[in-house]
Amino acid sequence: MEQDLNRLIEKARQEINSVKTRADFESFKARFVGPKGDLTQIMKGMGQLTKEERPAAGRMINSAKTTLQELFDEALRRIENEELAAKLGPAIDPSLPSPEGDPGGYHPLTLVREEISRIFKQVGFVVAEGTEVETEYFCFEALNMPSEHPARDSQDTFYFPDEARFGNVSKKEDEKYLLRTHTSSVQIRTMLEQEPPVRIISPGRCFRRDTMDATHSANFQQIEGLYVDKNVTVRDLKALLDYFFESLLGKGTKTRFRPNFFPYTEPSFEVDFSSSHLAKVGSDGVEIGGCGMVEETVFESVGYDPEVYSGFAFGMGLERIAMILYGIDDIRYFYQNDLRFLKQFV
Ligand code: DAH
Repeated sequence: MEQDLNRLIEKARQEINSVKTRADFESFKARFVGPKGDLTQIMKGMGQLTKEERPAAGRMINSAKTTLQELFDEALRRIENEELAAKLGPAIDPSLPSPEGDPGGYHPLTLVREEISRIFKQVGFVVAEGTEVETEYFCFEALNMPSEHPARDSQDTFYFPDEARFGNVSKKEDEKYLLRTHTSSVQIRTMLEQEPPVRIISPGRCFRRDTMDATHSANFQQIEGLYVDKNVTVRDLKALLDYFFESLLGKGTKTRFRPNFFPYTEPSFEVDFSSSHLAKVGSDGVEIGGCGMVEETVFESVGYDPEVYSGFAFGMGLERIAMILYGIDDIRYFYQNDLRFLKQFV
């Protein structure tokens, strides 16, 4: 009997590799352990053994059964893997170039932001970074907007619960974290870190409580500018913005300042620009941002002496500029990730 069992296992081992499909597998298994299978036949021979011979024979049969079962399991696993591989198709080599030949491209807002940065860098500005999660101090108070200031109403935003912690942004105990409503907070962060002269622009994402429509988004981007030195005047501000808009939109682009109010600049202006060759703009002008001469109290809050230094600041909406530049009439296109839109800028 031992020889029969060994022969049987040997046979199973030899044949198992030619089992390719599930149907093959089932008939292969039946040939050994089915009602008419070889092992079943050997087991039937047990009846002719003596009582003494039976326990040893039983053990041999069990061990043969286990060995066969292992062979079956292994074969089944192999068949399942082959089935899966067939379903998945040929193996993928992730180091090869994408078969579509589509390398992707920059988002239109990134393109415009880079172009704006390039123009300002040409006249000595550097890009400063802030944080999107801000404290009330940097976003409002240091900019002369204490908590009861009405200017805060138009800048409602998302406040974090008291227990929220952002390791890289320190705050006072009774302050709240919020999502910044404008990039003006970077003015304060920059001035606290360095002495004049300061010449920065700071592009970045901002957030406000706003209902989305063609011209509003709760998530948008601004570009802040700050220039502090001795003897800086409104003329420098006007000259810089003239240079900027002409560089971005071509000769014949003009800026116009209209008096306005911002708590952190005095005097303050609304900036309009007009351009005869841009259909969407025409010569009437489009409002694009705010600006002004930095308020004394702002200088005081960062430890600059307002008797010695003067400066200007400005803030503009990036989407607005991109919409005019590309003739886009709905801000939502920027945030829907529709490839039909995005691919036009590659
Ligand atoms: N922070 C203003 C806003 O979001 C824009 C602005 C106005 C920025 C005047 C400035 C400024 O730096 O001087 O509406």
